[in-house]
Amino acid sequence: MEENLDKSGGGKRIQESMEITLRPIELSDVEDFMVWAADDKVTRFCLWDTYTSKEQALNYIKNYAIPHPWLKVICIENRAIGAISVTPGSGFDQCRAELGYVLSYKYWCKGIVTRAVQMVASTIFKEWPHLERLQATVATDNEGSKRVLEKAGFQREGVLRKYIVIKGKPKDVVMFSLLSTDFLV
Ligand SMILES: CC(C)(COP(=O)(O)OP(=O)(O)OC[C@H]1O[C@@H](n2cnc3c(N)ncnc32)[C@H](O)[C@@H]1OP(=O)(O)O)[C@@H](O)C(=O)NCCC(=O)NCCS
Repeated sequence: MEENLDKSGGGKRIQESMEITLRPIELSDVEDFMVWAADDKVTRFCLWDTYTSKEQALNYIKNYAIPHPWLKVICIENRAIGAISVTPGSGFDQCRAELGYVLSYKYWCKGIVTRAVQMVASTIFKEWPHLERLQATVATDNEGSKRVLEKAGFQREGVLRKYIVIKGKPKDVVMFSLLSTDFLV
């Protein structure tokens, strides 16, 4: 896979011709899932703990990821290298949904998740016509994730103080949003 990377920009960018695809997760993705889910460098900013066994991963894929209303794996050549999800609100929160994403460490900083977020943003408001707002809450020290959302055109709304507990510590987060009407501006 590495040989497909464009080294001209310091090895940073994937080639334009290399296609990122999104597809539903399958049980057979478990080995690839473990590459990111069992890596402390990746899970540091995630709400969930680092996975320690394949059984745990299979359980998650079967009971949470497959039934999830909108969760896809990010693929290169159909091989899962990360995941992206949109979790809908219900009741009074039904106008909004929460975006989440994660990527295997070896693929970081090549523009992959920005591209995946752009793909989601361009389709989700058509798929879910009732949706008004796609939002993401990012720990203030998660520089890479904040940059992804800025590059994908999300608006930075402000800081929510001590909003969420990550790895046992209450963290300040930045709230980002994209509205269905933002595309019209
Ligand atoms: C956050 C994450 C999804 C980003 O994915 P990615 O494919 O590497 O993102 P991109 O390459 O599209 O963009 C990352 C941007 O952040 C920048 N960046 C990354 N780390 C940075 C840091 N420590 N300080 C400043 N900028 C940083 C990159 O340079 C790039 O910006 P640029 O294109 O202007 O150079 C990935 O790092 C990841 O999986 N992290 C762990 C899980 C996670 O944090 N999920 C989100 C929870 S809110």
